[in-house]
Amino acid sequence: MTQTHGLTPEELQELSRRAAAAKDVSYCPYSNFRVGCALLCEDGSWVIGANIENVSYPVTICAERTALVKAITEGKKKFRAIGVSTDISPPASPCGMCRQFIREFSDDCVPIFMYGKEEGDCVVRTLGELLPMSFGPEDLPPPDRGARR
Ligand code: THU
Repeated sequence: MTQTHGLTPEELQELSRRAAAAKDVSYCPYSNFRVGCALLCEDGSWVIGANIENVSYPVTICAERTALVKAITEGKKKFRAIGVSTDISPPASPCGMCRQFIREFSDDCVPIFMYGKEEGDCVVRTLGELLPMSFGPEDLPPPDRGARR
């Protein structure tokens, strides 16, 4: 039984449904590896994203960062849960770059639900579990605005 991390059964179902549906808008002609992401925002709204690849491979944007960039530009900066869906089993987990990107906008306790190929295929970990001893916004001292350059 997957931990709920305070989500209602309806929210859990919606998270998995939206993350899976987001795979349909993935643009992945080079890898054929579809990734969908759904964010449950603090205000109860939802934002989705998918991986968007590029012929110059490193220019590719992962599904998690697509979703987060969309959310931030809509003024949503806090999240109750993140869902990531792929077509493999066991489910894939966010890459290192995405973990750090998520960290910018999330505390250690934010749950990341990873969904795989099979119905009910779900692994959940907190951001703190996926990115221990992380470097976050509160770790950077405020800039010394009076300092000479
Ligand atoms: N990908 C994601 O969208 N999220 C991740 O966290 C891992 C990788 C995408 C990038 C690329 O389009 C494809 O998966 C294969 O690496």
